[in-house]
Amino acid sequence: MRSNQEICDQAAGAAAFHDDPQNLIRAMVDLLKRERPYYNWVGVYLLRDGMLELGPYLGKPTPHTRIPLHQGICGAAASSGKTIIIDDVNQDSRYLACSLETRSEIVAPILWQGRVLGEIDIDSDAAAAFSAADKELLEAIAALIAPKLV
Ligand code: SME
Repeated sequence: MRSNQEICDQAAGAAAFHDDPQNLIRAMVDLLKRERPYYNWVGVYLLRDGMLELGPYLGKPTPHTRIPLHQGICGAAASSGKTIIIDDVNQDSRYLACSLETRSEIVAPILWQGRVLGEIDIDSDAAAAFSAADKELLEAIAALIAPKLV
């Protein structure tokens, strides 16, 4: 398995290459899905007019293409501006289900100068799949996406 550093180096290359934010996000989603087999669903939501709107993703289609800030783990991460890790989604009343197989979730906000522009959302079919290393990886990827969104 490639290290976070190797993935970030590749992501930095993609950030230098792609000017169009949608293409860059698509490249980041591809990279994460490919490099971390336990990332069963990988997507990016962008914040527009107080609503989280689903952008590029890989995995099963989700009914949650628009999420208000007061709903879901996604809404909680965007409202707080902090990464949220949920070890068991079935124990969290905020959770909005996308697939019955999903057991754990991580959501990392995409921040620019303290402002939330969107977030990276990952679901895993394994319980408690996400650690501090995943948080670091996703926050680093989010930091590469953010400047392209402003
Ligand atoms: N589980 C998320 C909704 C998005 S789907 O997982 C893709 C949530 O609780 O906000």
